Amino acid sequence: MLTVSAPGKLMLMGEHAVVYGYPCIVTAVSERLSVSIEETQDEKITIDAPQVKDTRFVDQAIIEGCKAWNITHHGLRLTTHSNFSNCYGFGSSSAVTVATLYAIATLFKQSLDTKMLFDLAYQTVLAIQGVGSGFDIAAAIYGGTIVYTKGGKILDQLAWDLNNDVSLVVGYTGMKADTPTIVKEIAKKKEEQPERVNRIFEAIAKLVMQAKTAGDKKDWETVGKFMNFNQEYLRDLGVSTEKLEVMIHAANKAGAYGAKLSGAGGGDCMIALTLTEKKKIIEQAIISVGGIVVPVSIHTEGVRIEQ
Ligand code: MEV
Repeated sequence: MLTVSAPGKLMLMGEHAVVYGYPCIVTAVSERLSVSIEETQDEKITIDAPQVKDTRFVDQAIIEGCKAWNITHHGLRLTTHSNFSNCYGFGSSSAVTVATLYAIATLFKQSLDTKMLFDLAYQTVLAIQGVGSGFDIAAAIYGGTIVYTKGGKILDQLAWDLNNDVSLVVGYTGMKADTPTIVKEIAKKKEEQPERVNRIFEAIAKLVMQAKTAGDKKDWETVGKFMNFNQEYLRDLGVSTEKLEVMIHAANKAGAYGAKLSGAGGGDCMIALTLTEKKKIIEQAIISVGGIVVPVSIHTEGVRIEQ
């Protein structure tokens, strides 16, 4: 039996704009999804994936992997394990896709470079959900904190350490969001008001690169300021919600450097950047307005073999 795990992700800045070719900053989280795989002799593919909300990602990854590597087998058994709940929007679908492909390649001794893994995983995800920039797949493969653009291009791997002097607090609204639906709504808005939406995306892209420069200098106060500006543009796009706004406002009022929604919006999570000594105060502020603090660490390792 072989086990491979891949991490979930958190979008730090640049959501939505990244779907249209602009850069984003994404980090891999400590929540991981593992896939155990073995070859059987029963001519069946058995999948036991209770933590995955949609097992079509596993089915499709097996199809794509076997086709790409010309694999014939006498049966496969796959089981998933996870330490994260798929309700937070941490990317269980992309993590399971990457882990499944990596496990198949390893089990059948196929050579696998990260570009090929990305392309196969991205193809798999697009076949199922139709839209997406692939930023979550890049986080699952490379880990760490990366500046990413659509198509698998990693512009930079950042040495940001947001687990020591500064911390990231994650607050869940309690409302699950449906990313493909929101991405399609933004596509419609972009068709109706191309100039306005493009202007917003360009402004977000500028903020992403400015935040990268500030973060490289450990100027976290400035990174926080850019996160707040990013949130203003996301609000303009119409993807923020009242609950997200209340939680973001509470975090900022309690002294965070900055706060914003993370991901597609419409619910799910917000993030706040804070000095570590203020972390507890920010967490309390989020809880006091009805948010749920999700304890995660970030900047974690990408896909790996567990045993
Ligand atoms: C969703 O977590 C982030 C979006 O930018 C979609 C994507 O990049 O695939 C809204």
